Amino acid sequence: MASILQEWISLFLRWAHIISAIGWIGSSFYFMWLDSSLKKRKGLPEGAKGDSWAVHGGGFYHVVKYQIAPDEMPEALKWFKWESYATWLTGFAMVVVVYYWGANGLLIDREVADLSVAQAISISVGSLIAAWFFYDWLCKSPLKSRPVLVFAVLFVAIVAASWGFQQIFSPRAAWLHTGAIIATMMTGNVFFVIIPNTKIVVADLKAGRTPDGKYGEIAKLRSTHNNYLTLPVILMMISNHYPMLYSHPYAWVMVAMVLVIGAVVRIFYNMHEAGMHGFQVRWQWPVVALFAIGMIAFSTWRPDQKEVAFSSTAALEIVAVNCVICHSATPTNEFFEDAPGGVKFDTLEQIRSFSSKIIAQTVLSNMMPLGNETGMTQEQREELGSWLRAGAPAE
Ligand code: HEC
Repeated sequence: MASILQEWISLFLRWAHIISAIGWIGSSFYFMWLDSSLKKRKGLPEGAKGDSWAVHGGGFYHVVKYQIAPDEMPEALKWFKWESYATWLTGFAMVVVVYYWGANGLLIDREVADLSVAQAISISVGSLIAAWFFYDWLCKSPLKSRPVLVFAVLFVAIVAASWGFQQIFSPRAAWLHTGAIIATMMTGNVFFVIIPNTKIVVADLKAGRTPDGKYGEIAKLRSTHNNYLTLPVILMMISNHYPMLYSHPYAWVMVAMVLVIGAVVRIFYNMHEAGMHGFQVRWQWPVVALFAIGMIAFSTWRPDQKEVAFSSTAALEIVAVNCVICHSATPTNEFFEDAPGGVKFDTLEQIRSFSSKIIAQTVLSNMMPLGNETGMTQEQREELGSWLRAGAPAE
């Protein structure tokens, strides 16, 4: 019962997490677009930077942006902050339910580091807190006047953290934690910096004081970081479905490539939406394609992969003993009434059709057999891999 309850809680949290993340990222993309679509026109109210017209859901919208503030503060002011907070809260709750509750299966990999559950959880929580303090310090350090340098240091720090996680956690948890520290920086920016600073500005305006321009600048630096980090974080959050990303012995190299791809895609949209033409908006997609191809090529380079002699009979026996107990139309494992994930290995045809997934789950990573209940050995994984790569011959 407990494990089924865990699945249900995890499902509802994941649902809520995705919905709030869509709300957060959707509104932030919308405002990025809105900002660049503003046009200065005659007849706009005083202090207006520009306005923008849009049509949606059968109605027309007319939005005016005031660079500093309108003459009079409106009664009702909509703040966009809960989208971000809810995303972090549901995300952290998922880390608790999936990785802390299930620490022995998913967070800890005893072949990587022999940690106790308490140690692993402390490192996990500590890393989120430490990441925020480091990042906040970086943004306030003397480097802050050189935003490109700040971003370069941040890039190196994130890649280094992902390398560090790889030495401590299971490969899957390592990628997830890399995403989690970035997401914590992003929500921290909203919670600790952007919203409090905007509140100071609003209070100044209400009291008839001229707000200090530095608050706007600080918020701008932080929201630029959020903008460039959004896309990589999303990939890291879905990476748990793709062992080819996280199971690589040098997975941190792919983290670096993902950071580059995500930032370059955002640069394209920022420039495109700002109305730039020609080379300024042409270089990004080829660079993205190059890095994407680079990632694929890099993922196939596996210094830890060996081709070994195999026998088809032995390979089929390995699948029967280690997998078919669960992955069958009639599983013999007491916990499964149906084949988990709909994946069945009862016939050679079925095995062949899942060949690349089996390699990903069992040969390139140790995700399957689940919890290595059957005690599958490294030699068996290598033999199975060589057999599958040879096309899973019957004889
Ligand atoms: C103890 C039961 C159990 C055993 C043994 C087991 N699996 Fe699984 N397998 C699962 C469960 C549960 C899932 C669904 C996981 C999920 O939904 O994320 C799964 C999912 C999969 C998937 C689908 C992953 C995807 O991307 O959707 C593959 C492929 C797979 N297993 C291969 C294997 C192979 C190969 C073996 C033997 C080496 C094996 N499994 C042994 C329980 C098992």
